[in-house]
Amino acid sequence: MIIILLGAPGAGKGTQGKMLSEKYALPEISTGDILRAEVKDNTDLGKEAEEYMKKGELVPDAVIIGMMKNRMNCEDCKNGFILDGFPRTVEQADALENMLKNEGKNVDYVLNIAVPEEKIIRRISGRRSCPECKSVYNIYFNPPKEDAVCDHCGCSLVLRDDDNEETVKSRLSTYNQKTSPLVDYYRKSGTLIEIDGNGTPDKIFENIAGNLK
Ligand code: AP5
Repeated sequence: MIIILLGAPGAGKGTQGKMLSEKYALPEISTGDILRAEVKDNTDLGKEAEEYMKKGELVPDAVIIGMMKNRMNCEDCKNGFILDGFPRTVEQADALENMLKNEGKNVDYVLNIAVPEEKIIRRISGRRSCPECKSVYNIYFNPPKEDAVCDHCGCSLVLRDDDNEETVKSRLSTYNQKTSPLVDYYRKSGTLIEIDGNGTPDKIFENIAGNLK
């Protein structure tokens, strides 16, 4: 099964992606997590990506497409995967379609998680992330048991570099210009499912799982 998670920054793609990954035993591939790991390791890719990420802009399509080709060829992807943050442009969506077509595969579901902008801003401002195991918390809605410490691995939680007010505005504008056209793109292909992103993560997940055959 191949699932794409679509939605604005902070809509809950990562949160739902991790729950789906657990339930269906499929890898969740987050382009944001891969890029942040490259930045942390100070690789050439990381150095290039950081310039765009800190401005809330998209990393160039060619870089992302090459990176995702490698990732989707890994052994753990043979039974399917969950894409969180890819594709984000029509060019990336076309490239994904070609990659899958060459292997006789196709996208099964595109889940478009919709949340009003004022809720998104609150969710992002409260987000705290574990740089090690990638667990995501929220100081308002889902705090860790011990302040600023990851429940799972005990590492110190961080506020992401791009979760400041100015960059969040830019990320939302980038989403509206470059990524939101994918909603129509996938509606036309008949794979799109609209998901109401209001409510608790469990409630949203129940709705998602009920839509998957
Ligand atoms: P990326 O890391 O993908 O960021 P994003 O798309 O902006 O998405 P977020 O990770 O901010 O949000 P999310 O929807 O996963 O929400 P989450 O579940 O964490 O990308 C970062 C950057 O990398 C991009 O700006 C770009 O530069 C680059 N990049 C990445 N992919 C690229 C690509 N394909 N092409 C080019 N460039 C690319 O939830 C948010 C918060 O809300 C959390 O605190 C969570 O606990 C909380 N929460 C979640 N659900 C609920 C709920 N139901 N109720 C209350 N709180 C909730």
